Amino acid sequence: MAQLTDRFLTRNIPAERSKRHTVTFDEYVATGGYNTLKESLLKSPEELVNIVKDAELRGRGGAGFPCGLKWTFLPEQDGKTRYMCINCDEAEPGTFKDRLLVDYDPHSVIEGIAIACYACQLDIAYFFIRGEWVEQAKIMQNAIDEAYANGIFGAQGLMNGASSFAVECTQHRSAGAYICGEETALLEAVEGKRGWPRIKPPFPAVSGLFGRPTIINNVETLAAVPLIIERGASWWKSLGCESTIGGPASYGVKLMGVSGHVNNPDVFEAELGITLRTLVEEFAGGMKGGRKFKGAIAGGVSMGILGPDQFDAEMDFDIGKKYSVMGLGTACPTVFDEDTDMVAVARNIARFFKNESCGQCTPCREGADWIYKLLCRIESGEGSMNDLDQVLEVSNSMGIMPGTTICGLSDGNSWAARTIVNKYRSEFEARCKPSLVPITPITT
Ligand SMILES: Cc1cc2nc3c(=O)[nH]c(=O)nc-3n(C[C@H](O)[C@H](O)[C@H](O)COP(=O)(O)O)c2cc1C
Ligand code: SF4
Repeated sequence: MAQLTDRFLTRNIPAERSKRHTVTFDEYVATGGYNTLKESLLKSPEELVNIVKDAELRGRGGAGFPCGLKWTFLPEQDGKTRYMCINCDEAEPGTFKDRLLVDYDPHSVIEGIAIACYACQLDIAYFFIRGEWVEQAKIMQNAIDEAYANGIFGAQGLMNGASSFAVECTQHRSAGAYICGEETALLEAVEGKRGWPRIKPPFPAVSGLFGRPTIINNVETLAAVPLIIERGASWWKSLGCESTIGGPASYGVKLMGVSGHVNNPDVFEAELGITLRTLVEEFAGGMKGGRKFKGAIAGGVSMGILGPDQFDAEMDFDIGKKYSVMGLGTACPTVFDEDTDMVAVARNIARFFKNESCGQCTPCREGADWIYKLLCRIESGEGSMNDLDQVLEVSNSMGIMPGTTICGLSDGNSWAARTIVNKYRSEFEARCKPSLVPITPITT
């Protein structure tokens, strides 16, 4: 799969970095922007939800949950306020794709927000933005102000009263914790509390912000909505790929941020299903210094690692099952060359999770610290083979999947640690002292 001849999500963002600038409201309108919102208001909310459902748009925030299906989980209206939260936390290491849209084309996101709010009949939208993004918060605030000044949002009704349905939009800056990107921690943070994930159910669509029905979507998911409404579900499904293992398909285009040991790290728009090799060699300018590929974080460190023999992995939602990683995640790979010390990579990632665990669940809080200390010991040459197997044993028992934690942060920690240890085990073993007591090898 080669470069797209037309770009869609990035249609207003030049490929050449020096030519990029923030598209203003007027510039956005001059290229046909907000026409889809206008057209959408001629359709019923149900029609719009059905188009997104038919397109099988899967969430771009990491979990890949079908967007249209999520929208149908909202209960019947009861005349009281319903909310939308836009997840622009983007604190997953190696992930910087939503930022591209905020930096350069914020109105493409705002148009998606307005259409989604109308389709789901949500009255108030909170744009939740990563705390460290000071400049991006200014850009987004300016775009929201422009949208108000031009009648997109506000009490008069969407699009200067073209619809009587009114949407208010407010930006909320995060205090800076990674966990606040988890959707229920995000809700707590917007409510002004500590960002601690909630136990589900109830799911946010039923009881979310302030206990009211709430839809939470990622920035890129919402930016795809106007394209799908404008061009139709079958157009979206003509891009991307079917599942090759009998699972749900991976339709459409996706932003993929490539970083690490490549010549041209950047965000690229590609069809789902592109191989990692094509992404690196044709889009990101190849491996830096012509060195060999050693591995890549699949899509945010939580997903785990693709090993040296997985350079041809297809970047789609099958990737988890096919290549022993947790999933596609944010589709933003961090690439490592042959000189990378994988023990140091594992230790560095473990440090991140140890610092970012919110501390509510014992397996996550204690397990994260334990894994980090074991990896530090191994890296320094003081660890034993027992320590190595202990890393696997601890990581196998933490997370939503083994049923021991409230949220998926712990699964991310677990997948990162065990995929790196399993796929580069000889590097770890070479650093370990012999076992002090007989061990039973753990290979999962
Ligand atoms: C620890 C953790 C951090 C997360 N961070 C983000 C994030 O920064 N941005 C995001 O969109 N989703 C993030 N998610 C996923 C959200 O919980 C949620 O699935 C997503 O915002 C839903 O939007 P989507 O369906 O459009 O993808 C995170 C999940 C976990 C467990
Ligand atoms: S899994 Fe970790 S981050 Fe998530 S709620 Fe439990 S302690 Fe907090």
